[in-house]
Amino acid sequence: MRGKFITFEGIDGAGKSSHIAGVCAFLAARGLQVVNTREPGGTPLGEKLRDLLLNEPMHLETEALLMFAARSEHLAMVIEPALARGDWVVCDRFTDATYAYQGGGRGLDRHKFADLERWVHGHLQPDLTLLFDLPFSVARERIALQTRELDRFEQERADFHERVRLAYLERAAAAPQRIKVINADRTLDEIKNSVEETVLSIC
Ligand code: TMP
Repeated sequence: MRGKFITFEGIDGAGKSSHIAGVCAFLAARGLQVVNTREPGGTPLGEKLRDLLLNEPMHLETEALLMFAARSEHLAMVIEPALARGDWVVCDRFTDATYAYQGGGRGLDRHKFADLERWVHGHLQPDLTLLFDLPFSVARERIALQTRELDRFEQERADFHERVRLAYLERAAAAPQRIKVINADRTLDEIKNSVEETVLSIC
């Protein structure tokens, strides 16, 4: 039987990463084979593209196209084979991030992404997307705790992140069956409980 595809989304500093490992462990404890991966990245080529995307200044359309190029490689080399084997795939960001960041944040025409989405994965959508939502003022405090150098997206101004958040919430409102909004402005335990309850709904 084909595996299930779960994605995590949210603005920078939403705190999703700490819960992804927890969900993988939660699914593995139920006897499922789990592939934990991320975008941009997840393949040797994708990780090189990630490094460029996060650190190298580039034209806005190049950024969107490289996101989809990395995604195409990721789908062919990792996601599709895993789902076909019956594994569950847990992915830190996917195409909703392009709509939110390159569409909402950068202001690019979202219709172009719809064409690319059809081309790259017209046949496949996540079974479930958990959208970690919180005000950017809270996320900004978490970003400020980072000791490493901030990437190109984390360095963006507050209004960029507010637009990303809004675009995510619009997508969630348009696809409420697939995208579940998790209030990420709560304690770790409260968030963990909501995340596990939501994931259980597709187990
Ligand atoms: P991460 O730090 O959550 O792993 O994500 C890397 C950054 O890449 C994050 O700031 C969001 C950005 N991104 C996009 O702008 N568009 C995309 O399609 C994806 C997948 C990520």
